[in-house]
Amino acid sequence: MDKIVIDGGRPLEGTVKISGAKNAVLPVLTAMLLTRGRNVIEGVPNVRDVTTMIKLLKDLGAEVESYRDEKIILDTSRANNPEAPYDLVSTMRASCLVLGPLLAKLGRAKVSLPGGCAIGARPIDLHVKGLEAMGAKIFLRQGYVHATADRLRGVQFYFDTVSVTGTANLMMAATLAEGKTVLENAAKEPEVAFLADVLNHAGAKIDGHGTDTITIHGVSSLQPIECRIFPDRIETGTYMIAAAITRGEVLIENCVPQHVEAITLKLQEAQVDVEARGTSLRVRARHPLLAVNASTHPHPGFPTDIQAQFMALMTLARGRSIITETVFENRFMHVAELKRMGADIALNGHTAVIRGVQKLSNAPLMATDLRASASLVLAALAAKGKSIISRVYHIDRGYVSMEKKLSSLGAQIKRAK
Ligand code: UD1
Repeated sequence: MDKIVIDGGRPLEGTVKISGAKNAVLPVLTAMLLTRGRNVIEGVPNVRDVTTMIKLLKDLGAEVESYRDEKIILDTSRANNPEAPYDLVSTMRASCLVLGPLLAKLGRAKVSLPGGCAIGARPIDLHVKGLEAMGAKIFLRQGYVHATADRLRGVQFYFDTVSVTGTANLMMAATLAEGKTVLENAAKEPEVAFLADVLNHAGAKIDGHGTDTITIHGVSSLQPIECRIFPDRIETGTYMIAAAITRGEVLIENCVPQHVEAITLKLQEAQVDVEARGTSLRVRARHPLLAVNASTHPHPGFPTDIQAQFMALMTLARGRSIITETVFENRFMHVAELKRMGADIALNGHTAVIRGVQKLSNAPLMATDLRASASLVLAALAAKGKSIISRVYHIDRGYVSMEKKLSSLGAQIKRAK
């Protein structure tokens, strides 16, 4: 298994370019199942979750015509297999995004339940409840969701909890349903709004995306999809924190500053200079870092996917910060590892109290999930000496060439087998 070796303690300096958004491309790939023909996506980030999703789509009968230079052409003319097997779904929870499109297009779907994951139980009860409300017959057997429907019908559905993939799944299903669907308390994440734009471009009738009420008027068919994926806001936030934690100066290019406003404001509150210009951000740490509190919320709130990285930063800030995780019930696996580096963190349920220390020390570290791994990389970049991070396959799920990008900023980082 690969490891990442970091010899930390150097300020990062230079320019880094952000890749396409992983959480935008995954639902768009599954939306192709609503179409028949040649779909084209550009700006596809080369990360393992994307490879897994492509494998799943091939399993469902889609054909990859070509995939190179971040551009994929995928033909869905023969995507007629309704079964998403356990071995693929269990490795990536986002695979459950095929449920809505398969059901809407084929009238049936058999999708493995994703099961628990490192950051909590993460059920898909709301996806199932919404599809049932749309007239689907759904039962669970041997770990699979079996769903059938002649044609889904429009409904008014309220999400008890804001769910990103839940909103995407029901929105996709509703594009081909009969009549009008209204999704209340829907996710406002840029990835969901983008999916709606892409679907509209293919002939869907969706309104209100980007707000918490999305209205979909069903149509009888959709054209193949053509789109370019926008830059990844979590990758952007991670490099912003990388600049701050190493006390460096980094120009982050090809990003959408509005998508990372909550992160920018928190960094500015901590006395980090962040300056947005067009599609770039300049991040510079000139002043001592101040401890600030943060609480995760659905977009436009502070993203849960940046909580671990921000905590790494706060371990080195002056004073005491309180970080509260409200989206997931168990997303503090990085805490034990950060403490092994000398961080002072006390956990109490959903809250972490961090007292800033002067420095972190290098240590052997273990990655536990995608964003927790990123936080360990950041902490190791700040700590003087050599840290070895194992189980880095988690990082490869969601970050494009992280070692290469960090090396180009002057980090001493390499991958070892
Ligand atoms: C998506 C993102 C993930 C991010 C998360 C929150 C993708 C592929 N993944 O995950 O990176 O961390 O949003 O921003 O876009 N819930 C239920 N029942 C459901 C669905 C969700 O109780 O049917 C709960 C979850 O357990 C969690 C909360 O709702 O506590 C939010 O989860 P959700 O927004 O669904 O996360 P994902 O869409 O899986």
